[in-house]
Amino acid sequence: MGSNLARNLARHGHTVALHNRSWVKTQVLVEEHGSEGTFVPSESTADFVASLERPRRIIVMVKAGGPTDAVIDELVPLLEEGDIVVDGGNAHFEDTRRREASLREKGLHFVGTGISGGEVGALEGPSIMPGGSRKSYAALGPILESIAAQVDGEPCCAWMGPDGAGHFVKMVHNGIEYADMQFIAEAYDVLSAARLTAGEIADVFREWNTGELDSFLIEITADVLSQVDAATGRPLVELITDAAEQKGTGRWTVQTALELGVPVSTIAESVFARSASGDSAVRDAARGTLTGPNRAVSVHDRRQLIDDVRDALWSSKVVAYAQGLDQIRKASEEFGWDVDIATVARIWRGGCIIRARLLAQISDEYAAGGLRTLLVAPSIAKGLAGRQDPWRRVVALATTAGVPVPGFSSALGYYDTVRAERLPAALVQGLRDNFGAHTYGRIDRAGAFHTLWSGDRSEVEA
Ligand code: 6PG
Repeated sequence: MGSNLARNLARHGHTVALHNRSWVKTQVLVEEHGSEGTFVPSESTADFVASLERPRRIIVMVKAGGPTDAVIDELVPLLEEGDIVVDGGNAHFEDTRRREASLREKGLHFVGTGISGGEVGALEGPSIMPGGSRKSYAALGPILESIAAQVDGEPCCAWMGPDGAGHFVKMVHNGIEYADMQFIAEAYDVLSAARLTAGEIADVFREWNTGELDSFLIEITADVLSQVDAATGRPLVELITDAAEQKGTGRWTVQTALELGVPVSTIAESVFARSASGDSAVRDAARGTLTGPNRAVSVHDRRQLIDDVRDALWSSKVVAYAQGLDQIRKASEEFGWDVDIATVARIWRGGCIIRARLLAQISDEYAAGGLRTLLVAPSIAKGLAGRQDPWRRVVALATTAGVPVPGFSSALGYYDTVRAERLPAALVQGLRDNFGAHTYGRIDRAGAFHTLWSGDRSEVEA
């Protein structure tokens, strides 16, 4: 990914100094792609640093964690006041906050930057989410904006806010990516249970990609489902081990959301769905023991089912975006970042893994101002109102047939929770007070109350 980013910079007319732990890799890059622009390779870190114009702008692309600290420790003694170190890896935002504070003390800028789009995106135009000081963005922004994906003439790159804001936004991007993929997998599963072949489902996704679901992940789903295994002639997807792995950014999103008290239930469900898929011991034990329906979804009207699944997918996706963006809003308040949510959605329109047509609409809705949750944005609330019957039908149909849809049902559960006039949380409060005297509030009076459950059952004000 680092070499593709370097090539992208060179292709846009920037002179790129290169350094890699492996001198051979640096030489190979220059040999193979030297004609794409101006590269200045260096074998040693000291030569590399000396070759840069001031203020130095160094983009570090190494594995998150220890390797990032090791590179920073090597660079810092060689740098001078005002120089900028950019970390383009998937770092945890708390690490970024720590590194930013430490380099700031030394008069240096540390810019934790989310970069999304994978290897191809790095070369052809990623979505870039830089944090760090506003001052550093003045020196860095024009360069990053020139290599980012462009949508409607606007770069998919903008300053997200101070210290860890950029990496926080990227982390939530990945959490939404997990949810998006879980919904897509559930849509595939429901349609498979209705006896559509992988090839037929690929065609469905291709068709969806021409409409409101138009997005990178829908596009590549059609691609993956169309792939036929050369050795067996069977759809490749039917031969891939059904245990989804994860590198950790989805888990971080959920851990952080728990600490912030933001219910990102769809993202959590997606992380847990991956964990459950990989828990072979439990699955082996349960497979032979637990009974249930045989996963046969009976279909009277195939077209109707396909349209219903499309609507369940759109609605669930909207809930995941609402939850993820709410998490960014809450973190922004907590850490004093002042992240502009409309801008976040705007720079996700292109280049990144979750790029989707829907993001333009989301950005516009946030830009209109005063939005407490995406779900109540006029165009979104209207869209959900028109799709909730199909959404409920899909969850009911899948559940009755024994097809697991934890993502779709969790999203629907959240929708019904936040729109409820009254929640059974009242009973939870009653129970807490009963066993632990934790007190409760009342709808008709201010204050905290406790019932003397094991006494005369009268109520006292706590
Ligand atoms: C991106 C991707 C990228 C990476 C994921 C994979 O935005 O370009 O999100 O960062 O491919 O982190 O994550 P998992 O291995 O956890 O699925």
